[in-house]
Amino acid sequence: MTHADAPRSRPSDLVLGIETSCDETAAAVVENATIVRSNVIASQHQLHAEYKGVVPEIASRAHAERIVPIVREALALAGVDKSDLTAVAVGNRPGLIGSLLVGVAAAKALAWTLNIPVIGVDHVHAHLVAGCIAPSGSTIAEPAFPALGLVVSGGHTSLYFCRSLIEVQRIGATIDDAIGEAYDKVASVLGLPFPGGPNLDALARTAEPIATPFPIARISPSSLDFSFSGLKTAALYAFKGVPETSLARSKREARSQPPAPTYPAPRVAAAFQQAAAETIVLKLSRAFDLHPEARTLLVGGGVSANSLLRHRLAALALERAVELRLPRLEYCLDNGAMIAALGARLLTARASSCPLSDPLTMTATPTTAF
Ligand code: KG4
Ligand code: ZN
Repeated sequence: MTHADAPRSRPSDLVLGIETSCDETAAAVVENATIVRSNVIASQHQLHAEYKGVVPEIASRAHAERIVPIVREALALAGVDKSDLTAVAVGNRPGLIGSLLVGVAAAKALAWTLNIPVIGVDHVHAHLVAGCIAPSGSTIAEPAFPALGLVVSGGHTSLYFCRSLIEVQRIGATIDDAIGEAYDKVASVLGLPFPGGPNLDALARTAEPIATPFPIARISPSSLDFSFSGLKTAALYAFKGVPETSLARSKREARSQPPAPTYPAPRVAAAFQQAAAETIVLKLSRAFDLHPEARTLLVGGGVSANSLLRHRLAALALERAVELRLPRLEYCLDNGAMIAALGARLLTARASSCPLSDPLTMTATPTTAF
């Protein structure tokens, strides 16, 4: 066992979390796996807005420029010297490979110079712990298990059965688009600026949904998988009209039928938002039917910031008599705090085994293990 592998006894555990998987350069210091001493997030939205999506090369260059100042700021805001850190956690999967590598290199370099453990954390798994952290000055209890978990983000839409925050088994996932991806694409069709999700959410709140609800993909009577591509197409047609061949148009005109109606953007946004939230609630209800022993609902990912989804999840948790762990808004989107919190828990779980630290050959992987 090297010095870096030896668990340290400190008055408190202070883990630095680094997150660079996509277009947020983020770092945070978390105490005892639960209390967020600092949480710094530098968004790159402005850099990618003109391309209406994240450009991988621009993202990794921006991470490389920002990572050192962001880590320094996280330490300063936490009132922590780097020599006080007990470990460094880094999101090392899934994500854009060039972006992930910047965070992984920074984390390994820092851990090596400080002679403390470094641990790679799965970003999707980390979203599930975002409802189990709280800012300095507050306290937060451990959730009751077993629990159901829901991750709704730009890249993932998945359901989990969780025996603990570490033992997590996927029980459902999207078979096509992630919910956040559908939000962003529909927002782009409606002419909303990047990033689409929060702008669509704001627009949806200004209007009534169109009278005929959009379809909810059930897939099969018991499936826990999701599909959002049909909903995305329904929103496109409701806004731009259903495309017709010239033959279909002349047949329709011969029958004196009007073309399929189109609707204004706010009403399409409201109908999309309603169907998206209902899809999530439907699959979660099925999961609770299958797992009546679940005592908690853990939620995470950027779309858990959605106003309607938050209301619907609160109502579902009440109906099922489970505790809802919905992250505070600042922990919904990508952040270093959730990475540090999960890293700290993984290190504790590994404490009896050796080696404690990931090796310095630890690297980035584009896909999730969850
Ligand atoms: O978790 P996240 O920050 O990154 C990934 O891991 O993908 O999630 C980003 C996604 C984007 O698709 C963004 O449009 C969506 O979360 N999002 C929202 C809202 N805020 C962020 N979608 C709907 N309503 C929101 N309020
Ligand atoms: Zn994320």
